[in-house]
Amino acid sequence: MRPTPPRALITGASAGLGRALAAGLVADGWEVVITGRDAERLDAAATELGPRARAVAGDVTDPGHRDDLARILADGFDLLVNNASTLGISPLVPVQELTSAVLRHVWETNVVAPVALIRALRPLLRRDDAGATVINITSDAAAEHYETWGAYAASKVALEHLTLTLAAEDPDIHWYAVDPGDLRTQMHQDAFPGEDIGDRPLPETVVPAFLALIDRRPPSGRYRAAELAAVAA
Ligand SMILES: NC(=O)c1ccc[n+]([C@@H]2O[C@H](COP(=O)([O-])OP(=O)(O)OC[C@H]3O[C@@H](n4cnc5c(N)ncnc54)[C@H](OP(=O)(O)O)[C@@H]3O)[C@@H](O)[C@H]2O)c1
Repeated sequence: MRPTPPRALITGASAGLGRALAAGLVADGWEVVITGRDAERLDAAATELGPRARAVAGDVTDPGHRDDLARILADGFDLLVNNASTLGISPLVPVQELTSAVLRHVWETNVVAPVALIRALRPLLRRDDAGATVINITSDAAAEHYETWGAYAASKVALEHLTLTLAAEDPDIHWYAVDPGDLRTQMHQDAFPGEDIGDRPLPETVVPAFLALIDRRPPSGRYRAAELAAVAA
């Protein structure tokens, strides 16, 4: 049994998938701590989510922000979702045109920051009967080799590898790398500037799959939201 109410931290939850997931968790009885760099947009999201949401503005790459989160969650929490992420540059460019600055920025945001958060917050994850949960959001780009997606895709490969290594090293926690599939969000639009992405599903459509994962806690591993949707149905 989880404590009542259970508590989650979702990074990058002022928009897109993170925001939709925060709304799904709140509707399911969770308290959520949500983050994002744009404080105004984050506060608006928290207001809309209601009293069970707390906004903590900051950049996941900033150690001071991560310390703030550790202080705020000092009483313990049950679910960490490392969702905040960057493409690095838009439009995307071929690997040989990537600057080291872009590569470092992608690495800092998509790999270094999630691991640093895990390191800082792991002692605060509450252990109920079935163990606490960490979800690192990955992408199908980690499994494919799309032209111009190299920096982002390589960072997601690294994040997946680290997730499964953590599962081997720390089996008291449920560790998941979850690929949500294509979603109609700002990040997706930035990947396809000028294109109509209106045919991509909204992030809300994959939330039941995430809630099923969090509720049923299958073995640690990599999952696609599309597979989990069948579990949820
Ligand atoms: N959309 C897709 O098709 C798709 C497909 C596969 C995987 N994904 C993954 O899904 C996750 C969510 O993406 P999304 O499409 O929902 O993106 P999104 O709509 O662009 O939202 C990104 C969120 O993260 C925040 N954020 C970005 N950089 C941050 C940082 N350094 N520190 C703190 N917050 C930060 C943004 O707010 P601020 O800008 O104010 O910080 C925003 O709240 C990502 O991990 C992405 O790789 C998305």
